[in-house]
Amino acid sequence: MQKLVIRGGTALEGEISLPGAKNSALPLLAASVLCKGETFFENCPRLTDVFSACRILTNIGCRCNMKGHTVSVCADSINLSEIPETLMQEMRSSIVFLGALLGRTGSCQVYYPGGCELGPRPIDLHLDALKRMGAKIRRHEGRLDCSAPEGLCGCCIHLKFPSVGATENIMLAAVLAKGETVICNAAREPEICDLADFLRKCGAHIKGDGESTLRIKGTKELHGCIHRIMPDRIAGVTYLSAAAITGGTIKLSGVKNAHMENVLPVLEQAGCRIDRSEDFIYLRSPKRLRSVSRLRTMPHPGFPTDVQAIIMSIMTLADGITVFEENIFESRYRHVDGLIQMGAEICVSGRTAVVSGVKKLYGAHAAATDLRGGAALVIAGLAAEGITEIRQIHHIDRGYEEIEKVLKGAGADIRRIS
Ligand code: EPZ
Repeated sequence: MQKLVIRGGTALEGEISLPGAKNSALPLLAASVLCKGETFFENCPRLTDVFSACRILTNIGCRCNMKGHTVSVCADSINLSEIPETLMQEMRSSIVFLGALLGRTGSCQVYYPGGCELGPRPIDLHLDALKRMGAKIRRHEGRLDCSAPEGLCGCCIHLKFPSVGATENIMLAAVLAKGETVICNAAREPEICDLADFLRKCGAHIKGDGESTLRIKGTKELHGCIHRIMPDRIAGVTYLSAAAITGGTIKLSGVKNAHMENVLPVLEQAGCRIDRSEDFIYLRSPKRLRSVSRLRTMPHPGFPTDVQAIIMSIMTLADGITVFEENIFESRYRHVDGLIQMGAEICVSGRTAVVSGVKKLYGAHAAATDLRGGAALVIAGLAAEGITEIRQIHHIDRGYEEIEKVLKGAGADIRRIS
């Protein structure tokens, strides 16, 4: 069992270059199933979720190799369209292989995905949409037997919630379907645009990505290509926040500024000085951050749910009160206990968390409960007085590549011990 040991109190100084985005790499790897010939993904982060996706690809008969930060996939020899329960359970986004396999082979057996640490993770929107496109889906205990013997047909799909995963699944099912698919109330996250860019390079006809209405005209075949995965905007906010809470300065390179415009103003309201160029962000933080009165998580381009825990951790030391409203997931406050153990003053009631800034946090022994909650504990530990030990760090390794090395490179006193 590994843990992170952090001695807080050092102001971070230095430059961090952003890795590729986990939440783009995963649907892209699923999309490679649709392509004939070889596909290369550059700037792919080395994360446990990415290794799980590569195992799924290998399991269904693809050739999949990861060398450094480049993954090559060849799906020409797919010989199985069943994904074992153990692999499905390893992460939530395994469910997007469903749309890809149905689109490519016309049949697929999957199990309900894992990743329930944020509350129930239903897939009703995914399944309803695929059924509307002609898929037959039968449940046997936790297994889903899916088939589309006559192939999938494009249609108009109105999502009752702009689900990121459901939008991705429909895109992957629609690119080889007969006719046009229109997704109304589609997710608008940058990862959707990255997936659409990749699919267009492979020969797909997609319009409207990044907007609420997405149009996909089915085509006969897709071919492999070389695609550089977009930078990880959530990891970017994480590292900016690590500098902000420690009174440090940081240069974040390899960013796409536009992807972070729904969070940077929050850091500026908190007192950080931010200079931006096309591909880097320079943040100088004040001695003490100011609170930001209210933050509501919303679908993109609103304030992202994935940075809620991270921004909450910096607000625990800000001057004033910040009220958080988590509108995307049912229970995404599981990091609060760990922050309170470190001396934070947080009161949770339903979807609302009220954070009253304190002058000091103190090192404690805490456990990561989920990916971003774990990152929040690391950030708090960087500013806490004394030693913080964080257990269950496999959650953190799902979304951050060698987080301790990245932070140590900016001056943090942090190490991983077994
Ligand atoms: C993606 O999850 C991301 N994961 C999440 O990031 C992110 O928090 C989320 O989008 C929202 O931005 C990946 O991309 C791998 P949703 P996803 O479908 O697709 C409900 C991280 O920390 N819903 O947009 O699962 C659902 O319960 C992870 O990197 C249904 O009700 O998110 C939730 O309340 C965490 N029925 C809301 O929609 C469905 O069929 C948003 O879910 C699907 C979703």
